[in-house]
Amino acid sequence: MCGIVAVTGYKKALPLLINGLEKLEYRGYDSAGIAIINSEKNSISCNKAEGKLKNLKNNLKDENIPGTVGIGHTRWATHGKPEFKNAHPHIDGSGTIAVVQNGIIENFQDLKNKLEKEGIIFNSDTDTEVIPHLIKRELNTLSKLNLENNGSTLLVAVRNVISDLEGSYALAVLWADAPTSLVVARRQAPLIIGLGEGEFICASDTPAIANFTNIILPMEDEEIALLTPLGIEIYDINNERQYRNPVSLKVSEQIMDKMNFKHYMLKEIYDQPQTAKNWLENYLNQDLEKGKYQINYPFDTKFFESIERIEIIACGTSKHAAMVGSFLLEQFSGIPTNVFYASEFRYSPPPLLPNTLTIGVTQSGETADTIAAIDMEIKRRSSIEDKNFKPNLIAITNRKESSIGRMVSNIIDICAGIEVGVAATKTFFAQLLSFYGLAIKFAEIKGTQSIDEISNLITELIKLPPLIEDLLEQHNKSSEKLAHDFFNIKDVIFLGRGINYPIALEGALKLKEISYIHAAGYPAGEMKHGPIALLDKKVPVISIASPCEVFDKVISNAQEAKARDSYLIGIAPECNGTEIFDYLMKVPSSNEWISPLLNIIPLQLLSYHIAAHRGLDVDQPRNLAKSVTVE
Ligand code: G6P
Repeated sequence: MCGIVAVTGYKKALPLLINGLEKLEYRGYDSAGIAIINSEKNSISCNKAEGKLKNLKNNLKDENIPGTVGIGHTRWATHGKPEFKNAHPHIDGSGTIAVVQNGIIENFQDLKNKLEKEGIIFNSDTDTEVIPHLIKRELNTLSKLNLENNGSTLLVAVRNVISDLEGSYALAVLWADAPTSLVVARRQAPLIIGLGEGEFICASDTPAIANFTNIILPMEDEEIALLTPLGIEIYDINNERQYRNPVSLKVSEQIMDKMNFKHYMLKEIYDQPQTAKNWLENYLNQDLEKGKYQINYPFDTKFFESIERIEIIACGTSKHAAMVGSFLLEQFSGIPTNVFYASEFRYSPPPLLPNTLTIGVTQSGETADTIAAIDMEIKRRSSIEDKNFKPNLIAITNRKESSIGRMVSNIIDICAGIEVGVAATKTFFAQLLSFYGLAIKFAEIKGTQSIDEISNLITELIKLPPLIEDLLEQHNKSSEKLAHDFFNIKDVIFLGRGINYPIALEGALKLKEISYIHAAGYPAGEMKHGPIALLDKKVPVISIASPCEVFDKVISNAQEAKARDSYLIGIAPECNGTEIFDYLMKVPSSNEWISPLLNIIPLQLLSYHIAAHRGLDVDQPRNLAKSVTVE
């Protein structure tokens, strides 16, 4: 949700900024802009363009702005439409301060009203624009104290201004009068500093840094930093200087390569056999003496014994993974589990109950609602003296260095590698696997499944990589053909039951996100209570019909749709009953527990091919952003 990048050093800023923005475009693509301290003119050169980064690149293709200090932004609109005037950087009236920001300044209207009364003229509808004006005002005040025009003074001014800001932000500030300095600050929005050779580069996410260095310093919440070519000073909220060791980026955090695929999304769908292999390698250990497999999560699992219930907090696709997880944790491991939308949980949490495990699921580790909900849960549990109410936390994330990674010590790193496509695919798959691991762990500790049942499930997990490879092979072409027939449809209904109900929701979400076709997922048994009214020959129904206790009922529900003239697509193994489908997307016959991991593959491929056939921007669908760091 908006990407920011900032550099200072000895190399030309323009190519560094553009390169960084290219890697951050997944965070928003409503507009893009850069500001550089022009070393010939000693002033700020600012360029912006509405729409995707390519428009800005076009504007700048013949430009050669001299200067080694600059900031850049790629926007996902919150306050103010996606128009040129609202593109960042925002500049103060004197043209000497430039700011890029990711977040939401909740009290911007009050601040703006006050500034307008002082005669300040605003040029945009954004919340961000108050910041350069406030910094300029602060610098004017500081100048009366005879402070020098340098980075340290800018640091003081920015610190004073951010103490008046409410909400969340990650920001980077330039001042033409301190031409080698850069001030950056963050509250509840990510910022990472990369230590390059001859430059420091600060960005919202690691891919923007990885081309320059693999040595990084993540900034903690509420920190502010001054960057000059000579070094970095980081201060906490109490103005205490902070010292910490840099860390290395993993290779997987650096790779963003589409290979020969047309889109990142398709490549990421094809990454899933490897995702399964990675998970098995990382988290499944074989006890060589007993020949038994064990789930090896990187934290002390003793506290599992005392857990009586689980609450899971997530958004979007992560919530669907959490719903599959909840099914497993209740039905396989016997632990009462509830899943919550993070945005709902943070304002209406359930009453506190003892011995509860809270699981936060977020691939980016930065989703504002999820972070805030987890933070709230930690605080409200920590305020109770009874130790049975203490916070027990696990985070399931693809970015262990992210905000959630710093809040929660028990991390299941899903190790899916960078996912660039805005619509999540391989990270969903890896989140599902993480829940299988947790369910197995709990079932062992609580004794809710026999040793045989547990080892059966593990055996099924081990078999996954070649099965997924086969499914990809089998369905890529056929779903492309199906997409050819269906790319013009207006509505699609997805049905599933039990452990596959969340897969119906995820199938519908994938289609909506990238093809802009209305799609809704329902528990198959609920169709007759309303959605059936939508059905006619123009509304296809995709029914997930994995063999299970209620298989016959799923087939009956499909019959009901067929009787209303809907074209029926089945996701199921070929077996008695599936002849009812007009088109069967075959999946291998499997243990019911494992079926979501298979059923999701044809659904991802179908959505992908429909969107690609419609000629849409599959990797960067309109209005969406990969990581939503505002409320
Ligand atoms: C955004 C993305 C979704 C994602 C959701 C949650 O809305 O567009 O694809 O599922 O955020 O993201 P998280 O990083 O918390 O899993």
